[in-house]
Amino acid sequence: MSRKILVALGGVALALSLAACGGEGAGSDSSTSGDKPADLTIGVSMPTQTSERWIADGNSVKEKLTAKGYKVDLQYANDDIPTQSQQVDQMITQGADVLIIAAIDGTALSSQLQAAADKKIPVIAYDRLIRDSKNVDFYVSFDNYKVGVAQANALLTGLGLLKADGSKGTATGPFNIELFAGSLDDNNAHFFFSGAMDTLKPFVDGGTVKVKSGQTKIEQVAILRWQQETAQKRMEDLLTKSYNDGSKVQGVLSPYDGLSRGIITALQNAGYGTAANPMPPVTGQDAEIASVKLINDGVQNSTIFKDTRLLAEQAVIAAEAFLQDKTPTANDTKTYDNGVKVVPSYLLPVVTVYKDNIKKELIDSGYYTAEEVAAGQAK
Ligand code: GAL
Repeated sequence: MSRKILVALGGVALALSLAACGGEGAGSDSSTSGDKPADLTIGVSMPTQTSERWIADGNSVKEKLTAKGYKVDLQYANDDIPTQSQQVDQMITQGADVLIIAAIDGTALSSQLQAAADKKIPVIAYDRLIRDSKNVDFYVSFDNYKVGVAQANALLTGLGLLKADGSKGTATGPFNIELFAGSLDDNNAHFFFSGAMDTLKPFVDGGTVKVKSGQTKIEQVAILRWQQETAQKRMEDLLTKSYNDGSKVQGVLSPYDGLSRGIITALQNAGYGTAANPMPPVTGQDAEIASVKLINDGVQNSTIFKDTRLLAEQAVIAAEAFLQDKTPTANDTKTYDNGVKVVPSYLLPVVTVYKDNIKKELIDSGYYTAEEVAAGQAK
């Protein structure tokens, strides 16, 4: 009985508060701070479902917002720029109150962002910075330069030039390595590559590592749209053109697990991965489950773990701040200049994962179960 009364009172309170809003609900140009979560919609635009990480990101953001009572419009764009533009346009016309966007091409959304700004819809760039627009209000990501540094350090550790604690290793080289970078239209790809190259430079200059193909410029080593197949093809070409003299690839800098799997496939097809012809250290990023299994099996050297649960949480905190007419708290206001302005950012730390800390970082933290790691598949 008392529960019924409470429910009825709740209904009255809701009706009163809706009336107080004067119809200024989702999609209006005015403040959303007085609105109930159930009246507010957050548009979440993700690049692709072909990569497991973006599925995890999308799900995490949606779950956390839904748990707080917000409506969520989550869309994936199949790595197709016009599709993403159209999806964002639609979110705006359908009355989104905040947009969270992981862009496919960081420079392709200027007109959508202008339309959002015209309707006073705040825009949060999710992991990938949106460039060349003043209408990016906040950025949540990781320290992407440090990701590149960590990838190069993992490669140098794999080669034995460094010890796990960062001190000088016992190996002397010279080692033949090859370099890969991400999609040139993704701002992050440049940060990863420069962090890695700054770290490798003293070794290249000192002659302990040698990029045998001579391909050291980001334009030469970039993989459009971060495609696994493209990386496999490039590795095959490198093997045919630069290693047809009996020499071996002894290490590969790869900025993302999907690329790493393509590179590993090419190397396996060319006979690498035996006692006589060992798999060289190949780095990675994102701790995708298929790659974590490869690391656990001793095939892939390492990955950089970026906890998508924490990133999603920061995106939700920022979205909620905007919905309450507050400014989200940044912890970096210097690094991410998008070409028009420095975008206030919240950057999270990253962890390098090798075989020996999979348990501590990924299993004990609840990111994956031991069964998932063994199977190479997330449930
Ligand atoms: C980048 C992101 C990486 C990786 C890559 C490919 O923007 O920072 O973690 O996911 O895209 O999806």
